Amino acid sequence: MPTDLVQLTLSDSIATITLNRPDKLNALNGEMLARLDAIADELDRANDVRVVLLTGAGKAFCVGADIFEWSSLSPLEMGRRWIRDGHRIFERFARLPQPVIAALNGYTFGGGLELALAADLRLAAAGITLSFPEVKLGIIPGWGGTQRLPELIGKSRAKQMIFSGARISAEIAEDWGLVNEVVEGEKLMERAQALAGEIAANGPVAVQLSKQLIDGGEMASLEALAGSLASYTQDAQEGVAAFRERRAPRFVGQ
Ligand code: COA
Repeated sequence: MPTDLVQLTLSDSIATITLNRPDKLNALNGEMLARLDAIADELDRANDVRVVLLTGAGKAFCVGADIFEWSSLSPLEMGRRWIRDGHRIFERFARLPQPVIAALNGYTFGGGLELALAADLRLAAAGITLSFPEVKLGIIPGWGGTQRLPELIGKSRAKQMIFSGARISAEIAEDWGLVNEVVEGEKLMERAQALAGEIAANGPVAVQLSKQLIDGGEMASLEALAGSLASYTQDAQEGVAAFRERRAPRFVGQ
């Protein structure tokens, strides 16, 4: 059942996902995770979507996992359900065929930063802060942060952020390569939409193939890519024709 806590809109082949729980600074609860999962499913198959924008309503992008929700789980439930679900859903966003741009409009903490790291590009409003505060609660960033953060900014800076739990400014995040651009707050969505529009105007297959190549395709993506290319060759047509005509194929290598 769709919920208002995560909104999805589509305009000019750009899908915008808005985390919409502003009174709790968009802290992610189970209902929101399930909705994000369903949205990933929808976008994965949506030929009319060329770019995905991710943002938050109110003064936060997302302050991470809902502390009250996960802290009431047993350790086994937390491992089996909460952490694995979040991991799987964020991975789905990372693997979407379309580029995903996170427009960080406010606090980007913990699981919120992990969701932003699953996006391809990040734009941040000037003056916001980003952090991994998990160790301050005695837990760890469990939705991909320990892997995606060092991959993006190097182990040394990642360790500084994760070990200290300290907040860094958007400007430092840009300097470290954690965000692509810092934009004045009121211009953030305008800039995000302009960038999305610029990407959406390009050849969608070329953009999507570039994403897969840069990310180092998993086996399923590589097979999908190789399979579609092979099926487009003259030889594939000849192979099918030969099968239909019950004769040996005459391949030409094209
Ligand atoms: N989970 C659940 N609820 C959260 C939350 C979280 N991660 N972060 C904030 N909230 C809730 C608060 O409980 C509060 O709810 P209430 O109004 O019903 O009491 C509401 O969101 C606003 O938060 P508040 O702390 O009053 O806002 P603030 O502007 O004073 O501080 C932060 C903002 C982000 C500095 C602070 O909320 C914070 O440190 N949050 C926790 C971040 C975190 O540790 N994330 C990792 C989670 S694993």
